[in-house]
Amino acid sequence: EKGGYDSFMLKEIHEQPQAVRETMGARIDLEQKRVILPELKMSDAELAKYDRIYIVACGTSMHAGLVGKDVIEKWTRVPVEVAVASEFRYRDPIYTDNTLMIVISQSGETADTLAALREAKKTNVKVMAITNVVGSSVAREADEVLFTWAGPEVAVASTKAYTSQVVTLYLFSLYLAQVKGTLKAAEVAEVVDHLQDIPAKITSLLEDAEQVRHFAESTKGVNSLFFIGRSLDYAVSLEGSLKLKEISYIHSEAYPAGELKHGTLALIEDNVPVVALATQPDIYEKMVSNIVEVKARGARVLGFAMEGNTDLAKSVDEVIYLPTTLPMLAPILTVIPLQLLSYFASVARGLDVDKPRNLAKSVTVE
Ligand code: F6R
Repeated sequence: EKGGYDSFMLKEIHEQPQAVRETMGARIDLEQKRVILPELKMSDAELAKYDRIYIVACGTSMHAGLVGKDVIEKWTRVPVEVAVASEFRYRDPIYTDNTLMIVISQSGETADTLAALREAKKTNVKVMAITNVVGSSVAREADEVLFTWAGPEVAVASTKAYTSQVVTLYLFSLYLAQVKGTLKAAEVAEVVDHLQDIPAKITSLLEDAEQVRHFAESTKGVNSLFFIGRSLDYAVSLEGSLKLKEISYIHSEAYPAGELKHGTLALIEDNVPVVALATQPDIYEKMVSNIVEVKARGARVLGFAMEGNTDLAKSVDEVIYLPTTLPMLAPILTVIPLQLLSYFASVARGLDVDKPRNLAKSVTVE
């Protein structure tokens, strides 16, 4: 049942090229190079009117939402707020007639996410679910559903669900941009072309895992590890950090790189490992300055850069190069070595990768 892999997590990590392909599936019109979402019940005219979005979820699904926020705002100019469901359910959210709520849940059964959805349904706000499980409570109770089609996820640590949620959010953002006219047809076509290349690029990252394995093994005696990044890289950092804590029990924090000097830099000392994500060209120079700051305090830095950007090697101890893609699509590639990092760190410590202590796959109690 683990298909030759030693754990469900590793199997599911390797299923990502296929999972992402399934997510895109029939939703990409290859001839017109645009997105189609036939499952939406609402009209394009209705969708076009939404001018405010709340994304509500827990854990890894919330992290997918953070990527979605930046993408939706960039491509559609609609402001998006991302909230943790356990907080959101007790808030008094500001809904207008033009507010759309998106809940994201792999299982579709997470208690807080479901409660947030039910609270919202007491008002007139339209709720769209992004979920992996057909027939789940979230899928049944939301007004609209986009299924992620990642296939069953068994390991407690979510991997292919995250990447397929992120792809679903790309597709939704593109569709919203088409409907609102905020991207030109040629711009949509360019993203669609790059999306189509993503599965093969994930495969190449999976085949080339030695460097990340080596880095993970070198963290064996380490108590604490930091992830730093800006903008989309920060959103992915949060996911890398959660995954590492969850299955390797190494304390870690994800920090917006520019925020380090407001306190957290005090924790950087000799040999503290720092994973520095530098995939975003518009803030690349700023990232390098932050890397120089942690290096000056003795950090051992593993950098992530887009292929060809060999310049980063000058500032860090080691670099992982990601296959080139559009900056907006980088998260879906960046997360792959981060998942592997947590997996290898867990294995190196002799832990049960699939069943981390204190955690359940589906959190159906508050
Ligand atoms: C982390 C993880 C959790 C879930 C969270 C939400 O690897 O799996 O953080 O993402 O419990 O679960 P769903 O998406 O089922 O609502």
